[in-house]
Amino acid sequence: MQTLQTTSLRVVENQLFILDQQALPQEKSWLDASSVETLVGHIHALRVRGAPLIGLSASLLLALLAERGNSRDELAVALETLRASRPTAVNLMNNLDRMKQALWQEDFVPALVAEALRLIEEDKQLCDAIAKAGSALVKPGSRLLTHCNTGGLATAGVGTALGVIAHAHQQGLVSNVWVDETRPLLQGGRLTAWELGELGVPYQLIVDSMAASLMAKGEVDAVWVGADRIAANGDVANKIGTYSLAVLAKFHGIPFYVAAPHTTLDPDCPNGEAIPIEQRAASEVTGVAGSFGAVQWAPEKARVYNPAFDVTPAALIAGWVLDTGVVTPEAVSNGFFRGSAV
Ligand code: MRU
Repeated sequence: MQTLQTTSLRVVENQLFILDQQALPQEKSWLDASSVETLVGHIHALRVRGAPLIGLSASLLLALLAERGNSRDELAVALETLRASRPTAVNLMNNLDRMKQALWQEDFVPALVAEALRLIEEDKQLCDAIAKAGSALVKPGSRLLTHCNTGGLATAGVGTALGVIAHAHQQGLVSNVWVDETRPLLQGGRLTAWELGELGVPYQLIVDSMAASLMAKGEVDAVWVGADRIAANGDVANKIGTYSLAVLAKFHGIPFYVAAPHTTLDPDCPNGEAIPIEQRAASEVTGVAGSFGAVQWAPEKARVYNPAFDVTPAALIAGWVLDTGVVTPEAVSNGFFRGSAV
């Protein structure tokens, strides 16, 4: 495969490398991800993360394994192992469905390579289209609040919600971005803060529980988040803490927008209750670890509840900003997502 470079993925001499998102921002280190076991390990540890990026990394690896001479049967097993690596983000399943079609073509090696590269290129275009559609909703002087990380680190392009914010900033529309630190793994504090800094977008980092008082003071004009899965009725699974922001935004009369590519839609999933939610290790809540070190503050035997995502009901969402344009609550209640093919 040709040499390839995105913000978080790199292919050099038929090896896949990922930018370690657990080490950022203190360290910028690239890790090998050239076997199914290593990539699945990176996905579990959230060294590779973000709904679009997970799907793209798995697709690239399958293409590289095909080039390395793996048989169709071996690749089919690898595909299913990768598909099971994170249950909530549907982009992974959607991307791998496309790779599966390529796998059943007679000349499957070039077909898999072409499909993986197409998915990367498409993702860049999807991000650009989302950024353009979303920034049309941003009013001049906006103070925007975002959660988790939805930028170039999580996609092959400029990102989803963060892509909208960056594009709106380029148009001079953003006066400040409130960045939720995003407990427990701090994707906001570690990654979004880093990306906004690199992009020169003015931001202030906050602890997740500060959003309410900021909204009460009139300091937030809109909330922008990404999505891991959008159900047919418009319910959205996204990083834990998203739902509370949506409830707060509704209470304070602040628009709450979800930005995602159409690869995040799951028309076969009737509603949020049917979205599988990943449960994660207690250690993520009892302490924190990263390139800055590790610390545990809770009692060793503390019982923990640690779902990685929550579901925001469609009724709290002011607009679903897709690459195809802005979908309104009226369109969603009229079944817009039910018929959408990925
Ligand atoms: O657990 P993570 O860090 O993969 O969660 C990521 C999110 O919740 C993002 O908002 C979502 O995947 C969209 S990324 C463009």
